[in-house]
Amino acid sequence: MTSKHHIIWLDNVDSTNTEARRRIANIDNLSVLSARCQTSGRGQRGNTWTSAPGENMTFSIVLKFGEEHSRQMQAYDQFAISQTASLSVLDFLARHGIEAKIKWPNDIYIGNEKVCGILVENSLKAELLSWSIIGIGINVNQTQFPESASNPTSMALQTGEKYDIEKLVEEFMDIFEGYRNRYLHINGGLGKLRILYLAQMWRKDTECKFLDFTLLESGHLDGPVNVSKEGGISQGKIFTGTVRGISDSGQLVVETAGGGKREFGFKEIGWII
Ligand code: BTN
Repeated sequence: MTSKHHIIWLDNVDSTNTEARRRIANIDNLSVLSARCQTSGRGQRGNTWTSAPGENMTFSIVLKFGEEHSRQMQAYDQFAISQTASLSVLDFLARHGIEAKIKWPNDIYIGNEKVCGILVENSLKAELLSWSIIGIGINVNQTQFPESASNPTSMALQTGEKYDIEKLVEEFMDIFEGYRNRYLHINGGLGKLRILYLAQMWRKDTECKFLDFTLLESGHLDGPVNVSKEGGISQGKIFTGTVRGISDSGQLVVETAGGGKREFGFKEIGWII
């Protein structure tokens, strides 16, 4: 297949994110490492990402910023990278007739099931972003999952179709580059990206139950304690709240039952699904 994009196909690799990190000094901006088989796929919160060989999209996009690569990005704008990736996945799925939402910060859900996970790893130099590795795992043709996977689904389970993985990665990159050009590198683009992201947030403005992990960290945990399905081993206190949006730095803004608003970082809150 002739390719518009610089996609490097790897038959076997531990993790495309780890491999991209190893190659970072010698790899061009917008290069993609895509694996047919990942042996130690990594997820958020130190979790593993398992994917049946040859069945799914498991790839990492390298973005480099500043000087000869592209315009500079401020470190405090780094959540825009996650937003660009999440919105590109939603657009990609929509083109296959699948309606999905973004479960903050960057899981992609169809109803209450996860079809895609994203692991963004950034390198900062003082107040600037120097590179990002955006690792994306989309469940495509896999229809059976191990017990350990929490509420998974796939494109095939949603549509009953079978897909050509190589074509899909090409197609994804068309969409991703479009988002990058329209929002990451244009004055005022980040504001627009934020509006698009807010409109696509899973369970926004809907009352839900959460786990508050901040009390655990500060040693002030009291009252009911639960084990989170997402984190596997995390414990927190259950509370009821409503997601109202995100802060400028990408923290989750939750209105609590008492009417106050609280902001949570990624490791500070879990959803009860
Ligand atoms: C998560 O939901 O926890 C994030 C999962 C990210 C998985 C992808 S697969 C390609 C890339 N390589 C990795 O090791 N992880 C990401």
